[in-house]
Amino acid sequence: MKAYFGRRYTLSASHRLHTDALTDEENAAAYGKCNNPHGHGHNYGIEVLVGGAVDRETGMVMNLVDLDQVVRQQVLARFDHRNLNLDAAFQGQVPTTENFCRVLFSLLKNALGAGELEHVRVEETENNFFECSAE
Ligand code: NI
Repeated sequence: MKAYFGRRYTLSASHRLHTDALTDEENAAAYGKCNNPHGHGHNYGIEVLVGGAVDRETGMVMNLVDLDQVVRQQVLARFDHRNLNLDAAFQGQVPTTENFCRVLFSLLKNALGAGELEHVRVEETENNFFECSAE
C-alpha cells in the first residue's frame, strides 16, 4: 500500500512577468500589472507531497527532517527573498507561477530520488494556486 506525506513551506520572492518574445504592448496585454517594470512580490505557499511505502521500522513514509533539509537546500536557500527573474532557472522562461512550480518539482524530484516526489503545489495568492505532478 502506498501512503502520502505532505508538508507546507512559505517563501517570499519577487518577479516580473515579461518575455522578449512579445512587444511591450503585447506584454502589457498578456500580463497586465504583473508586467510593471519594477516587479512585485508574493508570499508563496509551497506544498510538497511525497509518497511511498510506510517503512516497517520507522512507521514513516519519509522523515520530515530529511524532507525539510532537501527543501531548505534546494528551494528556500535559492529562492527565498530573491528576485526570480535573476535566477538561472528563469533565463529563457518567464517566472510565472506555473513555471516556478515546474522548476520546484524538477529540483525536488532530482534531490529526493526517483519515485518519492508526487506533487508540488504553489499558492501565489489567496485565490491562485498551481500544481505539478509527475507525468
Ligand atoms: Ni506576480
